[in-house]
Parts: sequence; C-alpha cells; structure tokens
Amino acid sequence: MADPLLALRPWEAPEVTSWGRLPMNAVGRRSGALCLDGDWRFQLLPAPDAPVGAAWSSAYVPGVWTMQTIQDTDDRPQYTNVRMPFAEFPPQSPAANPTGVYEREVDVPHDWAGRRIVLHVGAAESVLLVHVDGRPVGISKDSHLAAEFDLTGVVRPGERSVVRLTVVKWSDASHIEDQDQWWHGGVTRSVLWYATDPLHLADVTVRAGRHGDLRVDCRVRDSGGALPEGWYVSGELDGQPLTRDTELDRINAEDERVSGFLGEARLLTTVADVRTWNAETPELYDLTVRLHRADGTVADTSYHRIGFRDVEIVGRDLLVNGERVYIRGVNRHDFHPLTGRTVSYDDMRADLSLLKRFGFNAVRTAHYPNDPALYDLADELGLYVVDEADIESHDHAHEIADDPRYLGAFVDRVSRMVLRDKNHPSVIIWSLGNESDYGANHDAAAGWVRRHDPTRPLQYEGAAKLDWGATDDASDIACPMYAPLEDCVAHALSGEQTKPLIQCEYSHAMGNSNGTLADHWAAIEATPGLQGGFIWEFWDHGILQRVNDGRPAGRGGARLYESGVAAPGHRWAYGGDFGEPIHDGAFIADGVVFPDRTPKPVMYEHREIAAPVRLEPFRHEGLVVSNHQHFRGLEWLAAEWELSLADGGTLRAPAELPDLRPGETAAVPLPFALPRDGGEAWLTLRVTTADDQPWAPRGTEVCAPQVRLRAAPVPADVPVAEVTVPGRRVEVDADGLLVHPLLTAAPTLSLWRAPTDNDALGGIALRWRAWGLDALVREVVSVRREEGRVSVLAEYAGSVGVVRHRQVFTPVEGGIRVDEEAELPDEFDDVARVGTVFETVAGLDLLEWFGQGPWESYPDRSAGAPVGHHSVPVDSLFTPYLRPQESGGRHGVRRFTLSAPDGTGLAVALDEPRQVSVTRYRAEDLTAAAHHDELVPRPGCVVHIDAAHRGLGTASCGPDTFPSYLVAPGVHRWSWTLRTL
Ligand code: GAL
Ligand code: MG
Repeated sequence: MADPLLALRPWEAPEVTSWGRLPMNAVGRRSGALCLDGDWRFQLLPAPDAPVGAAWSSAYVPGVWTMQTIQDTDDRPQYTNVRMPFAEFPPQSPAANPTGVYEREVDVPHDWAGRRIVLHVGAAESVLLVHVDGRPVGISKDSHLAAEFDLTGVVRPGERSVVRLTVVKWSDASHIEDQDQWWHGGVTRSVLWYATDPLHLADVTVRAGRHGDLRVDCRVRDSGGALPEGWYVSGELDGQPLTRDTELDRINAEDERVSGFLGEARLLTTVADVRTWNAETPELYDLTVRLHRADGTVADTSYHRIGFRDVEIVGRDLLVNGERVYIRGVNRHDFHPLTGRTVSYDDMRADLSLLKRFGFNAVRTAHYPNDPALYDLADELGLYVVDEADIESHDHAHEIADDPRYLGAFVDRVSRMVLRDKNHPSVIIWSLGNESDYGANHDAAAGWVRRHDPTRPLQYEGAAKLDWGATDDASDIACPMYAPLEDCVAHALSGEQTKPLIQCEYSHAMGNSNGTLADHWAAIEATPGLQGGFIWEFWDHGILQRVNDGRPAGRGGARLYESGVAAPGHRWAYGGDFGEPIHDGAFIADGVVFPDRTPKPVMYEHREIAAPVRLEPFRHEGLVVSNHQHFRGLEWLAAEWELSLADGGTLRAPAELPDLRPGETAAVPLPFALPRDGGEAWLTLRVTTADDQPWAPRGTEVCAPQVRLRAAPVPADVPVAEVTVPGRRVEVDADGLLVHPLLTAAPTLSLWRAPTDNDALGGIALRWRAWGLDALVREVVSVRREEGRVSVLAEYAGSVGVVRHRQVFTPVEGGIRVDEEAELPDEFDDVARVGTVFETVAGLDLLEWFGQGPWESYPDRSAGAPVGHHSVPVDSLFTPYLRPQESGGRHGVRRFTLSAPDGTGLAVALDEPRQVSVTRYRAEDLTAAAHHDELVPRPGCVVHIDAAHRGLGTASCGPDTFPSYLVAPGVHRWSWTLRTL
C-alpha cells in the first residue's frame, strides 16, 4: 500500500502545514527527556518518492547533510540571496529534490508504560515526515521550529522501535524560506523524546509586569480525553507560593461553555520591591508550575526563568519599563562555519557574550525563530529580542502575500513562534517575517498575534517602512531597512511620525564597511522619534572549506582557523565556491564578525558609540562624566585615566567613577596637571568591568571615551629653503623617482584603492575603472634641481583626465622632506584617495605610530579608535576580509616608524593627521584575489600616506558615505618627512 504521507505529496501542498503534529506551547523541557542525537543511518534519495534502498551510510544528528562528508552524497551548500535556487513557481518544487532518510532504533523505557510518549524533532528543513516502525506518524513544515508527535500507542514500553525521519529539501515551503543565506538540508536541531502523565500541562502563559504583578495562565489536558475530577495547579516564584485564582475557577465552574476537556487555571501574585528585567540588569526569577491530581500528587511540572518588565508604545516612543531605550541591535542568523545551521549552547553563549562586550543590547532573529536556547541566553545575559517568524518569500513575494494557499502557513508560522517564545522577557517585539511584500496573509497572522499576546508590539518592515501617518497596518513600529539617514531624520521632524522608528536593518557590514555609523548614532541620539536599529548582520557566513577537494571541512574542522583566518589548505567559502551554478557570491559575507567569531574593526567602533560612560571637556579646568545608560549606575564599572602626549609618551592614573544615576552628569577635575611640553595631548578614560559579568570577565574593556586636552602646535610655516641642509642632496633617477636605500618602490601618486565591497557593489569602482584610475600612466614632465632640493613634475594619465603631480624633495636634518601637490581635474569628482604610495625593503616588521588605533579605522569609521601611541606588527595590521579589498588603514596618523628588530628602519612624520596604511599587498594584489588564501604577501611593506581618503559608506546594500567624506577634485597638498632610524 502506498505510504499515505508520501501520497499526500506534502512538499507541493502549501495548505498542508502539518499533520499529526502536537500544538506548540511554552511548557518547556520536561525532566527525564532522552536525547536521540548522534549517528543515524542515512541515505540521500534523489527525490522524496524515490524508493529507499538497502544501502545505508550514516549522518550526524543534529546536522545538515550538505555539510557532512557522507559517502555517495554530493549535495553541497548553495548560496542565493533573493532568487530561488530552482525555476519552479510556488508552490512547485523541482523534480530533482534531495531527500534525506534518517533512521535509528530506539528502546522504549519500561517505566513509560501508561504514560504519554512524545517525540520532539528540534528542526528539519524543509519538510519532515515521521514514521515509526513503518507507520505514518506525522508531517511538519517550518524549518526553524520544533515539531512534536504523540507516540503513545505507537511504540510499546520495554520494546524496540525504529524511528524514521524523512527530510525533503525543496518544497512549497522553500518559497517562504527564501532568506538570504546558504541552502541546506537536514535535521538541524536536537531530537529527543520524553514521557508525561496523560494529565499534563498543555501550555503555560506568563505575564509579569514591571510593578511586580504576575499572572500565570495554565491550560491542562488529559490525553485520555476528559480531565479527571479534582485536578489543580500550584506554583512558586523563587520559593514563594503563588495564589490560585479561585475567582477564575468559580467562573469556569459556573460557565456551561467550559468543558471537562480543556482545563484552565490561573496563578497570581504581586512581588513587592520587584527587581525588574531590562537588558542592563536582566533580573530573573525562578517560576515553577505544578499540575496536581486530586490526591495532591504531581502529574506535570513546568519550569521558567521569568522577568518582570513592560513594553509599550507611547506616542512615537517604544518604552521598556517606562524608559525610552535605544535599540543598539544586530541581525543574527543561526550560523556556524563547520555545521552550517546547527549551533550549540556554547556557540550561542559566545555570540551573545561577544555582543554584550561590544555594546549591543538587541538582536533581531533574522529571519526565523532561533534555537530555543538563544532566548534563554538573551533573558540571562540581557538582550532585547525582536523575534521573527520564518517567512520570507523574497523571490515571489507579491504572489504569495495574498495567495490563500499560503494563508495557513503564515498564521501557522507566526502563531507557533509566539506560542513557543511568549514567556521570555527578552522578547520585546514580534516580527511577521522578512521581505515578503505585504498582503492579507500578513494581516491574518497579525490579527492572531494581537489577540493572543497584546503585551508586545508587532513589527513588519513590509507594512511600515517610514509610515507617514499610517496607523492601521500590521506594524506598530516603523522599521525600514537601509533608509537614508536624512530620510529618517526628515520623517522624525515631519510632524507626521506616528510610530517609533527603529530600522530593522541598517549599516550593511559587508567587507570593509559600516562607514557613518557614528553619524547615524549622533543623529539618533539628537532626534526624538529615532530609537536605533539593527546592523546587518552579525555573521560572515563563510563555510570552512578544504581547497583540494572543495568539501566543507565539517565538524572535524574545529581547530582549523584562528583570528578570522582559515588554516593553510582551507578557506572561507562563499557563494559559488561549491560549484553552484546559481549563486550570489560574497554577499553572504556581510557580518561584523568573521566566520570564527573574530570581531571585525567595526565592533570597536560600535563599542565606543554605545559607551555607557561619556566624557566631555568642561571649560578649561575639568571634565564632565555622564552616565548614558537607561537603568543602572556606574558601580559595575572600573576605570583608569590615560594621558597620551604626542611628544611625551603615555601616563596612567587610577580613576574614580562618580556616583551617577542614568542620564546624570558630574564635573570632575583633570586627573593630571598637563605637562608644559609634550605637544598634542589626549585624555582617555579606559572603562572596564569592575567584576566578573556573565558575559565578560572582570577587567574587560567596555569603552574608552577620549577628549583632546591640547591641540598640536600649529606647524610653523618654515620656508623650505631654511630647512635645507647645506651640502646634502636628494637623489632621484632619470624619471624623477626618489632613490632611497630603504625603499624598493619610490613614492608615487595613488588615487585608487582595491575596491571594497561597497565600492564594487555600489558602482563606485566602476567609475574609477572607467576613468582609468586603477592603471594611471605616469610620465615625468620635468625634474629641476636647485641647491640640494629636487622638484619633480609628473603627469598621471587616466583614460579620461590627467592629474598633475608635483613632488619637492628637500634634504632636512636626518632625512628628506617631501612636499606634494596634486591637481585633480573636475571629472575626477569622487576618487578613492589622493596620496603617496611607496614600498620598503623586507625586514621592517613593526609599525609604531601616534594617531588613532590600534585597530583599523577610516575617515567615516574612526569614532572607536582613540588617539595614542600604538604598536602593531605589520602582519597584524591587515584585516583579512573574506574577499580581499582595501583594508588595514589607520586614520589620523601623525607620525610612524617602521622598524626591524634591531631598531633600524624608517620614520615618517606627517604635516597633519592623515590616513595611512602599511600592508604586504599592493592594491592590485588585493583586487586580483577572490579569497584571502590566494594572497601572497610581499616581503617588504606597501605604504600609503593619503592626503585624503574616501569614506567607506555602506553602498553594497544601502546608502553610500556622506558627501563630507568624499575626496573632492581640485588641488590637494600634503607634506611628510622621511628619516632613517
Ligand atoms: C536585506 C535582507 C537581508 C539581507 C540584506 C543584505 O534586504 O533582509 O536578509 O539580504 O538585505 O545583506
Ligand atoms: Mg531577502
């Protein structure tokens, strides 16, 4: 007889969202659950209806088969952004449809006799069919939520059964799981099973408000049918008994509509002096709910860690516990470079701890409900969560939003997410999904949420971008993505804003990016109505890949990467690297951390922007310290003063943080008497954790606000003739190129950088190429010698336009002074840089500088790099973005030395703070490579000194940098001196 589950062909039936699946609930894990993770028998069929063969290999659960080296399977990860990986229209899926069959024996415990037995499959993508001992048990869709099936009567306690999970990769559901990420297939979260009493808690709903009021609503069922007489519930909060709502019991008893089939009960209490939950002080209480039989024995128990807090929208402000909190968020996928989609508790803890360390306070679970442990961790560590349903129909958005065949799927996915996660204090907003247009299916789901959980706002980008007064849609929040900052500000100032404006995605972190983040936050903090947003995104989804055979390294690759870089013979794969015919390249690598979670430089920028403590100069004699948190004082922080003198090293002194409540400021005296000499002076407050935090050990830097105490002395405009050292001359060759024993390539003009992802995808690099900036042809016009000095005029010709460039080399005490001038024609109205590039001999492996650092910074991403004395080995200066591009720059550099271990080398002093980079790569080396492992470091250093350097912006997806960070045409002048050490 045909298998009824297969006969249904559920992979092409959007109306079938499940069959035989138990309702979702928030009761949580039962004690005594047995884990079924591990190696299962496995075979990969070419299609769901292909016959299951006799030959089995094995696959690890939880895991995706696309990432495992399983004999005879070559179904690999594939990356597409918007477009579907197959041509079929919804609800169709392709005939070639990899289908994984997982099978294993299970021994049913003896003592489960008489109990209700439940199988729990954490997640499977995209259609799950369950058979036990060959009998059909159930169907489930939604790749990111668990499915439970009642096996009572299907298996026999004390005996052995065979569980088969059939996972169909492509389906009607794929069309609404078209998120911008890798496509995989498999069972991605743990499988377990457990037993309960037939009389059991069917759901528990917790409402805990900021004034200490707690209400726990319980739903009770008995799998035998009618509930037994006399059952009741009890509960405790941190050991204190809760009160049973006897009034509700009485009403229920008198209400004829209330059946003996569904039991409802309520527990109440009010906690005096409640410690409220918020992201800064995530106070949790232990709640236990027990279901009793009439004789008092316990039939079922449910444990929760709950937080007391309110979320509300008042006017156009989102308030948490009455406070208008800033949302410093990031979008996070469940991702791992070895397992693809399966993430462990430790991984998630590391993710969220890192976010906390870098000043984030919010996560959007882009674009589906995350692993359940993530919400427990967010509750514990303190992060606000926008919980997003698993709906993205990007490629066919318009058709599906109003397609009644998908109506059930929309409501199913949204409601099941809410039913699962409603008791988490961290979840402050529900999201209907992502990039699925806006239609009746959304409104249906929104209606369900608003009735079921009126305690949280709802958002959906497709319904309310910049709302301009619309109030009757499915979004309580205006949550555009990548809206230009000026549009957001204009909206907030328009008088028509009705909803809090919190961008669901902004500041696209692809490659060397996130320019203007600080400008965004300056505007957000200055503009009522703007409340923050979620950076796109946390992860660079690079998969660790073996270069020789192109396979994913898989679970065994755990030690094959370090500090963002894959071990030799390996690389971080992005779209196309698995031979996918259709793919979207490196667009998958757009996170603030590398695939191994190494923070990118933007993380330091973010940390400073989010600083809980700020510093400002106060008149001439002091400072103002302020507390920029919403809920707590500064007592959890320690601090140290650091004074950086351009010409006098670094001084340190202990700092006492003032006792400040949120929003308060205090004047404090200067911690140092400023030495008379020493030149430019910068004072930094190094703020660290005073004690161990759940997310960081004691002494972890939290922020380092800085003020300038003294400007650099205005450089005396010394006539060049006077600094000339008589009798010495500068040597240049016939082409007017400087000859210097430490330089292997003479200083020449550079107008180009290896295109960043923003430059490339934003179309900017195309213009540079059209102008010929990547291959300027230099021709010397004149070389004039006068005393020891040499003046060289050269022309650099592009395909359009010619740049005249003059260099004047003057011998000065201990070296050479270089005065440069470049005149850019009007058509070069947006170039990458105007500056000097030269190359050094090998062996100068340490860069020391006075300027911003120590990490990479650029003109529009330099708020998190304090001015000071920095020292970094040349090999560590470069940031290994997955697709090589301009990187390693340092902003605001005043002077630097490049030295060998014996102290020899060169010293460069700049006329004013400038963008400098020292790497092992020429711009063309970076441009030619597609992956970091293809780069061959040069033995010497490639040094750029830029008179002007273009901002980074975020044009790979979103706005470009601001006009003020562009490099203008016209005359640029800069000077520097080169000395030998
Ligand atoms: C958004 C989308 C994200 C991602 C991002 C670009 O449009 O919601 O999923 O694709 O752009 O990286
Ligand atoms: Mg999309």
